[in-house]
Amino acid sequence: MTARLPQVFPHAGLPAHVTVYEVGARDGLQNEQATVPTEVKAEFIERLVDAGSTVIEATSFVHPKWVPQLADAEVLFKLLERRPGLRYPVLVPNLRGYDRALACGASEIAVFASATETFAQRNLNTTIDGALTDIEAVVTPALQAGLWARGYVSMCFGDPWEGPVDPGAVATVVERLLTAGCHEISLGDTIGTATPGHVRTLIDLLGTRGVDPARLAVHFHDTYGQALANILAALQVGITTVDASAGGLGGCPYAESATGNLATEDLVWMLDGLGIDTGIDLPALVETSRWMADHLGRPAPSRAVRALTKD
Ligand code: HMG
Ligand code: MG
Repeated sequence: MTARLPQVFPHAGLPAHVTVYEVGARDGLQNEQATVPTEVKAEFIERLVDAGSTVIEATSFVHPKWVPQLADAEVLFKLLERRPGLRYPVLVPNLRGYDRALACGASEIAVFASATETFAQRNLNTTIDGALTDIEAVVTPALQAGLWARGYVSMCFGDPWEGPVDPGAVATVVERLLTAGCHEISLGDTIGTATPGHVRTLIDLLGTRGVDPARLAVHFHDTYGQALANILAALQVGITTVDASAGGLGGCPYAESATGNLATEDLVWMLDGLGIDTGIDLPALVETSRWMADHLGRPAPSRAVRALTKD
């Protein structure tokens, strides 16, 4: 027989509440082979909301040729139900993307930079500095217009082309994003190579440079099965916002070694067991991912989803 919910054993030194920043509709679906109809994406997001998600990165206004899976961003965004308390940040790479997002009524954006030159080139067709300059050009008017902005840094813990990444180089990019005015920075482990000591070293280093962990989020792809251990390490040093993807969908089309993000269900199982509030109803979320897996024609990668959908 399969346990349906974990037993609760709180652990000292952890936050009482964690904000789960749901990326399944964007990071997840951007990398799926199957083209998901817009109405199915809208229903996916609606089901995530019904399961208790309140921050859902809905789509991305990148060039449709670069990410055809999200070419329907405008149509999808307009289908989303708006309610106070519900947040739908959207990914924006440059001013063109910002204008598109603004025209749809987006009030929260996520810009993205890289800690390595190779990934800046492959993902954004520019340099690290070029990407940061484009970001500054977006964030300045966004703040003036009253929008909320998140900045991602990709390849914080390793790069498939360049190998090891210096935490100091990551910190420099983080600082520039904060100076540009980003409210929150998400530390991206794009290819999933981080381990807990590495995570702690980076967050501690940022702390010595005056970066409050309350301004940081963590974004782990789960390629090497390290994501939950890394998140626990991050929670122990003050992080309270964690990115995850329902069902464990996803990857990154411009980083071949990236698999999906940590599954939201696997995260919620751990947080529920620690007695940490997320507002998410685990069985409802599992049902959503099972439903989405049927649409994608393959089982959800999430271990919790698999365990909880067995009889
Ligand atoms: P580019 O080819 O250098 O663009 O691509 P450009 O500025 O030279 O413009 C070329 C044409 O594209 C122009 O049209 C522009 O108007 C148009 P033309 O004048 O030739 O007719 N264009 C656009 N059209 C629609 N929307 C736009 C846009 N921008 C330009 N936003 C670009 C540069 C940034 C556009 C391209 O590199 C791009 O779209 N890259 C996005 C790649 C991507 O989405 N990657 C996945 C997301 S990042 C990720 O997953 C990592 C993350 O999860 C964190 C982690 O895990 O580490 C966030
Ligand atoms: Mg990602």
